[in-house]
Amino acid sequence: MTSDLPPPYTALTRHPMMAVTSHDEAARFNFLTLMNRYISGTLGKGNALAYESRVLPAFKAVHGREPENREEVRVAMNQDTFHRMWSALKRNTMEMRQHNGRQCVLRQLDQLDAMARQFNEHSGLLHLDPSVEQPIYNTCVDIHCQPGGYHGGERPDDVTVGANYDVGLFATTGGALGSLNDGGGQAVVAHIKANMPDFAPKRILDIGATVGHNAVPIAQGFPDAEVYAIDTAGASLRYGAARAASLGVKNIKFVQCSGEDLSRYPDNYFDWVQTTMFLHELSADSMPRILAEAHRVLRPGGLILHVEQPQYSDKMPLLEQMLRDWDAYNNNEPFWSAMHGLDLIEEMEKAGFARDAQFVAGVRAVADSKLFPPSPDGAQEDYGRAAIWNAYGAIKTVAEEKVA
Ligand SMILES: C[S@@+](CC[C@H](N)C(=O)[O-])C[C@H]1O[C@@H](n2cnc3c(N)ncnc32)[C@H](O)[C@@H]1O
Repeated sequence: MTSDLPPPYTALTRHPMMAVTSHDEAARFNFLTLMNRYISGTLGKGNALAYESRVLPAFKAVHGREPENREEVRVAMNQDTFHRMWSALKRNTMEMRQHNGRQCVLRQLDQLDAMARQFNEHSGLLHLDPSVEQPIYNTCVDIHCQPGGYHGGERPDDVTVGANYDVGLFATTGGALGSLNDGGGQAVVAHIKANMPDFAPKRILDIGATVGHNAVPIAQGFPDAEVYAIDTAGASLRYGAARAASLGVKNIKFVQCSGEDLSRYPDNYFDWVQTTMFLHELSADSMPRILAEAHRVLRPGGLILHVEQPQYSDKMPLLEQMLRDWDAYNNNEPFWSAMHGLDLIEEMEKAGFARDAQFVAGVRAVADSKLFPPSPDGAQEDYGRAAIWNAYGAIKTVAEEKVA
């Protein structure tokens, strides 16, 4: 027998930096974990039904043709009562998640700030540079409805946004990223070890690491490497460095730095450049600059890997594109739609990564077996609960030198 129920919120690992939830706060997060799973699973199926049975026939009756792109599908779906209810529920769970996380963090901010300061002073993992500017594409809205986005603060040098992000992500994702919210990074480690067993990186750059949910498991999976987890947002890094120290991780640095300007690192410095759920936060101008910088600092033969939701293509049904686009229009993700419409292989090629040295692979979140026990019916069964992404990767090749 299989079950669609996510694990309870109380399954979250309570590392020392994690904000303490009261009974009521945990109960609210537990409700939201279940509600998000219900909205994306059981209720989510109603969107296809609405489209096929009402929206598409009505569109054809008016236009004499099928919709040509995801924007036309979105405008048509937004007239449908069921879809509007589904969308409103989804938006409301995000707002409730932010309210709950923020009030939980604010009432204990003094203790959290003091603890972060203590971890950071002793560990040496945090390297802030206040001269780094917050890019406009991060500050223009509160990204995914999080007050202050990734960079803001309740007061100078605090950890509000990082602590709120960490304490509530389990609810946002319906528990699909595991008890430390690190299933993406664990999946990347498993993928590299399975597909590149001889790869032994010494220096790994993770761009846009936020609080290190997915950079930390890479450091743990490659203990002989040094991970440079960079981000423009000092507020997230302060919390991330303290969280990593509280987990006993030592081979990681949290560095305030923009991926657009990696001039602090020389050419060919890194063996591996990683981004996880990062590219969709970037403006059209910044992404080529970041890809070009990543190419410069990667050594020949080194690996670049971007883990993201799948890019849209002619093969992806328009309704699926439109539903995947939901965050762009309803959850303060202004660049999501345009980024997912790009041909990433072409973008990587423009940055210097040869087309024939690129690959796309599926990566499935690794969630703890104590939360998601393997099915007695078969090793492949994951109860439909694993988050699945694409990994867009390349090995850096060097152009052959011209012989005079
Ligand atoms: C969606 S989060 C990435 C999540 C993270 N990689 C993880 O695995 O948990 C996007 C992050 O990118 C950071 N960011 C945005 N623009 C950046 C830039 N130009 N350079 C470095 N970090 C940037 C933001 O501050 C934010 O923390």
